[in-house]
Amino acid sequence: MERPTHAVRGDVLTFHDDPHGKGIDDCASFIPDALIVLSEGKIVEVGPASEVELADDIPVTRYRDAIILAGFVDCHVHYPQTQMIAAPMSSTNESAANGSAANGDRLIDWLNRYTFLTEQSFASYEHAREVAKVYLDECLRNGTTTASVFCTVHPESVEAFFDESHQRNMRNLAGKVLMDRNAPEELLDTPRTAYDQSKALIEKWHGRGRQLYCVTPRFAPTSSPEQLEAAGAVWGGHEGTYLQTHLSETKREIEWVRELFPNHSGYLDVYDQFGLLGPRSMLGHGIHLSEPELERLSESGGAIVHCPTSNLFLGSGLFSLPTALREDRPVRLGVGSDLGAGTSFSSLQTLNETYKVAQLNDYPIRALEAFYLATRGGARALYLEDTIGSVAPGMEGDLVVLDLHSTPIIRHRMKYCESLEEALFVQMIMGDDRAIRATYVAGTLAYDRDAQAEPFLHSR
Ligand code: GUN
Ligand code: ZN
Repeated sequence: MERPTHAVRGDVLTFHDDPHGKGIDDCASFIPDALIVLSEGKIVEVGPASEVELADDIPVTRYRDAIILAGFVDCHVHYPQTQMIAAPMSSTNESAANGSAANGDRLIDWLNRYTFLTEQSFASYEHAREVAKVYLDECLRNGTTTASVFCTVHPESVEAFFDESHQRNMRNLAGKVLMDRNAPEELLDTPRTAYDQSKALIEKWHGRGRQLYCVTPRFAPTSSPEQLEAAGAVWGGHEGTYLQTHLSETKREIEWVRELFPNHSGYLDVYDQFGLLGPRSMLGHGIHLSEPELERLSESGGAIVHCPTSNLFLGSGLFSLPTALREDRPVRLGVGSDLGAGTSFSSLQTLNETYKVAQLNDYPIRALEAFYLATRGGARALYLEDTIGSVAPGMEGDLVVLDLHSTPIIRHRMKYCESLEEALFVQMIMGDDRAIRATYVAGTLAYDRDAQAEPFLHSR
C-alpha cells in the first residue's frame, strides 16, 4: 500500500446497497468517529478511529458535529445555463404576441425565450471558461463532486468545461449538444459535424484524468433522424462512453415527438430504435412514461434522472418515484439539478423537492433513500458505483462534510432529533450550501468553507 498522505476524522455514513424496502443495517454503515485514510487520490482504509492504525506524522483533519458522506452526484445539469437560473416565466403580452405562449408549453417557451439565446454566447472559449469556473466553484461549495453535464453545440464549450474540470481533478462527464433542427441557426450542427466533433472530443477527453465523455443529443425534437443515427453510431463506436438526453418532460413535447417521428410507437422508442438506449444512457426527467416504456427502460439498463426543482419550476409534472421503483421492474434512478430550469445547486435542496414531489405521489421517501440517490444511487445510475459514491476502501476520495449546525434554526432543531434518520431528514429539508463544511476531490481538500483566506484550493 502507498504511504497515506492524509486522513479525515469524523462521523461517517456510507451506503453499500439501495435502502428501498430495507432497514439501515442492510444498506448502510454509520461509523461514529471514523478515520478515512487517503492515499494517491483514493480511500485506502475506513474504520473507527480507535481501531485504525496511522503513523504519527500523517496529518489528520477532524470534523465535529458533522457527517462525512461520499460527494454528491448530479446526474443531469446544463452548465451554460448558470447565467440564466431563475429566468422569469410569468406570461407577458410579448410572449402571447409572438406565439410562444400560445403553443401552451412552458418548456418550449422557456427554451426559445431564454436558453437558446444564452447558449449562443458559448461559441467563445473565453466566455465558456469563465462560466465553467463559476459553475464548478458552485459545485464544490455545494458538495457536488461529479456531474453529468450538457455543454452547448460549440466544441469550444466542451473544451472549456473539460479544461476547468481536469485542472480541478474532478470526476465529471460532459458532452457537446447535438441539434440540427428546431433551434436558431447559430446553434445548429449537422449529422456529419455531430459525429465528427463528438468523435474528436471523445478521443481527446474520454478517460483523460478523471474526465468522461457523454454523447449529448439535446432531445428528439431538435435532431433529425439522420442526426440521431449519427449519435447512435458515435456512442456505439466508443465503448465506455455515455449518452445523455431528455425524455418525456412535458405532455406537449411528447405530442411533438409523435408528430416528428410518426413511425415510432412512442418517445422512448425513438431513442431505442436509433441505438441510444442501454447501459450508460442517462435520460433526464421521464415524467410521463407509459408502463411499457418503464418496462423497456428497466430491461435496457438505462437510467432516468429525476429533476424535481426543474420539474416544479417549469410546471412539467410530478414524477412518480414509487412507480419508477416498482420492484418487479425497477428502473435505475439518479437525481439531477437540471440547472438552469432547476433552481438550486444544492443536492440537499434537490432532495428536499424530491421529498415533496414524492409526498404528492403518496410516497414519503425516507431520508436514507434520498441520500442514497444523491450518492451511491447516482453513481450506480452511471455504472460508477465501484469508483465513486461510497466511503470505502478502493473508492476515489470524493467526500462531502455536512455541517449539522449550519444555521441557528438548524442547530436548534437538531437538539430535538432522536435518530440519525431524523437528523438526515432535517438536513435535507432545511440545509443548503451553508451546510457544506468541506468538499474533498480525489483525496484533497478542494473547498474549505471556513478557511480564513481562500476557501478554494485551486485559487490559492
Ligand atoms: N429539453 C430540451 N432542452 C432542455 C433544457 O435545456 N432544459 C430542460 N429542462 N429541458 C430541455
Ligand atoms: Zn436538462
